[in-house]
Amino acid sequence: MQTSISPSIIAIPDLCNIANFLPKAGVHDIVQSLHFDVMDGNFVSSITYGHCMLEAITKATELSIDVHLMVNKPQNHISSFAAVGPRSITVHIEACTNPALILSQIKTMNVLCGIALNPSTSEVELDYLLDSVDIILIMTVNPGACGQAFISNQMRKIERVRSMIDRHGKKIELIVDGGVTDQNIRDIAGLGVDKIVCGSFLFNGDYAQNITKLQRGLYGRDIN
Ligand code: DX5
Ligand code: ZN
Repeated sequence: MQTSISPSIIAIPDLCNIANFLPKAGVHDIVQSLHFDVMDGNFVSSITYGHCMLEAITKATELSIDVHLMVNKPQNHISSFAAVGPRSITVHIEACTNPALILSQIKTMNVLCGIALNPSTSEVELDYLLDSVDIILIMTVNPGACGQAFISNQMRKIERVRSMIDRHGKKIELIVDGGVTDQNIRDIAGLGVDKIVCGSFLFNGDYAQNITKLQRGLYGRDIN
């Protein structure tokens, strides 16, 4: 299985010049999508941006965009984000009173639906959602900020979720988000992860050099 990398635009240092920092489509095959973190100052203490920013970024890139909603009451925000046309919208299971209902709300807008788990949340919660979900996102840092260290005890959870998906049989994309560097990407991908989100490692310094380092970390050699 080919693991892809999804740059997390929250880590782009200069918000006023964000378009200049967006990775270009078609330059690195391993990058097929961007990751867009929405924080509401409630589910997490930080605030980032909303659907207007998503619209601006959508116009500035040919890459598809995965929206990660770290917000309470996500049901109130699905239609405005979905209307912009992202590839997917992922909500946190901890923020949903009825996750299955919200997932179906996303699907009716013709957008892939995802469920995210905080590091402290057990994957057992996912069991009854496997039929309804397109994406499972495992947080490997506590949500709320980029630049945190990878929580290594999540490796076992990633393994368990991979087995759950394989046993279930339906195609569900497995995403890992937080604390990924050139030092740990190979071990994470080796667990059967489809997509790895990476923020501060990629955008701290020169993006082109950092993506090369990540690919080297992943494959043990240079690749385009
Ligand atoms: C954390 C976000 C992540 C984060 C990734 O709340 O969901 O997407 O920005 O950034 P790094 O790679 O710096 O952990
Ligand atoms: Zn995220």
